[in-house]
Amino acid sequence: MTQKTAIYPGSFDPVTNGHLDIIDRGSKIFDRLIVTVLENPRKNAVFSTKERLDMLKLILEDYTNVEVDYYQGLLVDYAEQKKAQVIIKGLRAISDFEYEFQMAMINHKLNPSVETMFMMTNSKFSYLSSSIVKEVASYGGCIQGLVPDSLYDLILSKFQADIKCDTIL
Ligand code: PNS
Repeated sequence: MTQKTAIYPGSFDPVTNGHLDIIDRGSKIFDRLIVTVLENPRKNAVFSTKERLDMLKLILEDYTNVEVDYYQGLLVDYAEQKKAQVIIKGLRAISDFEYEFQMAMINHKLNPSVETMFMMTNSKFSYLSSSIVKEVASYGGCIQGLVPDSLYDLILSKFQADIKCDTIL
């Protein structure tokens, strides 16, 4: 039987609990899941590529069928190289749909043998994005519950904000 491999691509700037939820669920469906940091030409990353990879590796070290990787180039070319049949994308809200639909269509045109599959976010993370995490942290707001606990220090050090968490999110 062919091994089913999926790619979960993103800029992960930084990885959030919403991403982690998709990775966790995806790892139970596919034999092999590759979480790949790619550059999004529409965004300027705040965290370096190494920082983004280090954060992912730290939180995913216990997943035996999940790998972390980086690629510069077209996602479908990468999927072909890795012999992946599926690209996983997470959807939070209708507002994500238009952009993700366009991406799925262009990726299909570029390589019809790679299928895009969408997973709905867990409703408790429907408001969560990397941009929101950065905005909250930059003003010294509490990011507890938004990102894995083991990443607080790295994320906070980037913003040099004095963050106090006195509410449980
Ligand atoms: O987390 P993001 O920023 O929404 O991820 C977007 C990403 C990095 C997956 C997307 O920009 C991407 O696939 N970049 C690689 C270049 C590419 O293949 N683009 C799609 C065809 S134009």
